[in-house]
Amino acid sequence: ADRVPFYGTHQAGIATPAQDRLAFATYDITATGSAQEKRAALRTLLRTWTAAAAAMTQGRTVPGDNTDLNAPPADTGEAYGLPPANLTITFGLGTSLFDDRFGLADRRPAALADLPHLPPADLDPDRSGGDLAIQACADDPLVAFHAIRNLARIGRDTVVMRWSQLGFGKAASNGADQQTPRNLMGFKDGTRNIHGDDTALMDQHVWVGKETDQTWMRGGSYLVARRIQMRIEGWDRDYLADQQNVFGRYKYSGAPLTGSKEFDTPDFKAKGADGQPVIPAKAHIRLAAHENNGGIRILRRGYSFTDGIVAASGELDAGLFFIAFQKDPREQFVALQRKLGMNDALNEYIQHVGSGLFACPPGVTAPGRSWAEELL
Ligand code: HEM
Repeated sequence: ADRVPFYGTHQAGIATPAQDRLAFATYDITATGSAQEKRAALRTLLRTWTAAAAAMTQGRTVPGDNTDLNAPPADTGEAYGLPPANLTITFGLGTSLFDDRFGLADRRPAALADLPHLPPADLDPDRSGGDLAIQACADDPLVAFHAIRNLARIGRDTVVMRWSQLGFGKAASNGADQQTPRNLMGFKDGTRNIHGDDTALMDQHVWVGKETDQTWMRGGSYLVARRIQMRIEGWDRDYLADQQNVFGRYKYSGAPLTGSKEFDTPDFKAKGADGQPVIPAKAHIRLAAHENNGGIRILRRGYSFTDGIVAASGELDAGLFFIAFQKDPREQFVALQRKLGMNDALNEYIQHVGSGLFACPPGVTAPGRSWAEELL
């Protein structure tokens, strides 16, 4: 099978197995007029976008005329003839959408609170925010890119792309049957991630449920994106034992420093001959693990990225485009990142440089319906 169903109670691209490639984009709305007119334009856009996404994910071209010799074809064509490569197109609404422009301020979910400043982040506004977001994932980079490009094109009179990010080498497994991939630091990533087919954990930590103050979000989830640059050169000069202490895991096997196999449960209480904890106090997994956080868990679904070099230093501009899904970012991503930002040994080697928070509504259940229909 090379296609993922588009219609369903949840959007694809969250619980469904992570594909190899990512094309992520955010868009700002440019429609003018009264709040009502702008909202109508948004409604029309989302109806068109939804139909186009349903078609593209099943390997079909963007609906419209593709043969009229006197008009530009509806579909740009670069994915024509390619299999859908498990393309998923996941849609989200940004915090900036819930303002007076659209008269949506009172429909804003409490959980969609702007992310606070989370030191030591140094965010670039040109790589942050956006009224709408699209996460396109596929096993073929051209197929994923084709999706964000064509949605921008279809929305020409209503939206402009604000920023985009390509990702390769999925940086977190989210399924029991997947082999754990490695991030650009060379470590296995996703070992203790939530698995998309674990419905109990998904309901508990990822899907928005009855607790929400906004019923249109039930069955949806909140996407946090962080462009995290790695200081690759410094990392590559660090000695192996220290690299392993930064994460609290062995580099090659992925096992916790208290175990011998990848999926062994870390023993955070174990002490070495020197009386020090075997998994160091500032190790990434000690700080991030649910056992040490009052049970907080998130679904990670990030990708590695590289975008040439950083002009100032000549170092590679590369790292992790972190994506996490959760039912309440205030109590999950923000709580976790507060703790990591203060103490994580990894901070010496990373810097958060871009950020976004998006409310991903529930899935579209049938043809003719559209994303965020209940909101608009
Ligand atoms: C675990 C890498 C950023 C949350 C891990 C693991 C690695 C890793 C190698 C161990 C394997 C695993 O269980 O997946 C990285 C890198 C990062 C980064 C390279 C930045 C470039 C973050 C951020 C968060 C986070 C920003 C959340 C705010 C977690 C969690 C775990 C984890 C919850 C599971 C811990 C456990 O239960 O044992 N990460 N991570 N990570 N990371 Fe990260």
